[in-house]
Amino acid sequence: MRDSVLLPNVDTGLFALPTLEQLSPPARATHPPRFLLLYGSLRKRSFSKLLALEAARLLEAMGAETRVFDPAGLPLPDAEPDTHPKVQELRQLAQWAEGMVWSSPERHGAMSGIMKAQIDWIPLSHGSVRPTQGKTLAVMQVSGGSQSFNAVNQLRILGRWMRMLTIPNQSSVAKAFNEFDDAGRMKPSAFYDRVVDVMEELMKFTLLTRDVSPFLVDRYSERKESAKALSKRVGFRTI
Ligand SMILES: Cc1cc2nc3c(=O)[nH]c(=O)nc-3n(C[C@H](O)[C@H](O)[C@H](O)COP(=O)(O)O)c2cc1C
Repeated sequence: MRDSVLLPNVDTGLFALPTLEQLSPPARATHPPRFLLLYGSLRKRSFSKLLALEAARLLEAMGAETRVFDPAGLPLPDAEPDTHPKVQELRQLAQWAEGMVWSSPERHGAMSGIMKAQIDWIPLSHGSVRPTQGKTLAVMQVSGGSQSFNAVNQLRILGRWMRMLTIPNQSSVAKAFNEFDDAGRMKPSAFYDRVVDVMEELMKFTLLTRDVSPFLVDRYSERKESAKALSKRVGFRTI
């Protein structure tokens, strides 16, 4: 009697105790980790783009493969059908990536609309495919003013919404117009060192999680939902 009071009220057939075995894949992937980098500006000399390019260089130097999406020509969400070539390009890149970097300007205390529009075009799920779920994410922002965290905080919320594994470290480059040279390279600074820290951390978390990411984001409530749907379809009760 006492035990039943202490037991959680769960469907025992679907409630699984995670084991160390499930977290240790029999073989680890050895291919270069794949990263998609998004930036949130169409300005010719865009510091959020330059920051994303610095991040890409660092990831490549650590052995990763990177792609940087150019948001120019991407329609506003729902302004065109999702067969639009820029939407298709973005979705295919999201699918391809094992991790992402989002680099937004701060505009009026928020991420830019261009940044948000890109993420709004990436579906949380498309049939059985979930293009972002369980993938790693690093967030960065540039500002014209003093250092703030408004955009990165919002990007973190978006990362959660897209069910991504957002790493703890982040980069916020204040007065970004001072931080890049005429060739578009980031000058040596504590801001640059922070970008190195963030990319190292992203690489480590991606290597650690990519082989087990479906298990990491597998949810009891969703297993329950699918079991219910399945039992309805085949016309029997599982429990
Ligand atoms: C409409 C507008 C709003 C802005 N709002 C802010 C802001 O709230 N805080 C801030 O620090 N900088 C603000 N800025 C400055 C931008 O963050 C800065 O110019 C940044 O470099 C823009 O990113 P980009 O270089 O990638 O285009 C704003 C700029 C514009 C044009």
